[in-house]
Amino acid sequence: MDQNGIHNSIKGDRVAIVLAAGKGSRMHSDVAKQFLPLCGKPVLCYSLDVFEQSDYIDRIILVAGREGMETCSEIVKEYGYKKVSSVVTGGKERYHSVRNGLNAALYEEDSAVENPPALVLIHDGARPFVSEEIIEENIKALEECSACVTGVPSKDTVKIADSEGFVASTPERALVWNVQTPQSFHFSLVHKAYEQLIEKEAEILEKGIRITDDAMVVEYFTNERVKLVEGSYENIKITTPEDLIIAENIIKRHK
Ligand code: CTP
Ligand code: MG
Repeated sequence: MDQNGIHNSIKGDRVAIVLAAGKGSRMHSDVAKQFLPLCGKPVLCYSLDVFEQSDYIDRIILVAGREGMETCSEIVKEYGYKKVSSVVTGGKERYHSVRNGLNAALYEEDSAVENPPALVLIHDGARPFVSEEIIEENIKALEECSACVTGVPSKDTVKIADSEGFVASTPERALVWNVQTPQSFHFSLVHKAYEQLIEKEAEILEKGIRITDDAMVVEYFTNERVKLVEGSYENIKITTPEDLIIAENIIKRHK
């Protein structure tokens, strides 16, 4: 057990997959949001800095879009990220990008990696304020279960709508969480679940199911329970222009 009370019973690398292959269409900017400057450095660098400095992370796989490959490689070089072991291309949907990242965690240039991954933390590169505490809570949770997601209890009451825009039901607020990333897993579980997703992709799309996070893939294809780990209300995702102003204020508050 280490000084934080974490057993190191699961042997193998702890890998972070950082996603930066999105187009950021809701941001309406020429530069993809993960590369936009935020108080002096690109949005993407904030989460890379935290994973790079984390005691819990051995390797980082950075997933970039085709147009962003060069920018990502330049960022890795310029900021000197030593833990980034691969920069790989993403896919059309977020889950395609995750799948490519998972495969890259296992294979590098067609040969198996030296230290196979045991745990994987999947994180949105557009979410700058992940912290060492959040990473630690995720790793701790993976001692007791094989899947967990970071989230915060919803401050607002949430309504489920029907297809006509009327309220269908109101879930009990105390049980409603807004989920964030990292979403973290025993590697073999999530890898298998994603392989099944790709195999059954057409069928799933036909049913009208939209895969919007990683836990959903595990919920759908396995019987494992997914634990909710409390994150932080500051662990926001940069999605629309006003999020950049909120992010600047979060940074200023901590200065
Ligand atoms: N992402 C990705 N590959 C995709 C789509 C998204 O790697 N095909 C990444 C984004 O770069 C982001 C994270 O997943 O870090 C969360 O996605 P989201 O906020 O939806 O980003 P975008 O898809 O880029 O934005 P939008 O939906 O507004 O186009
Ligand atoms: Mg998107």
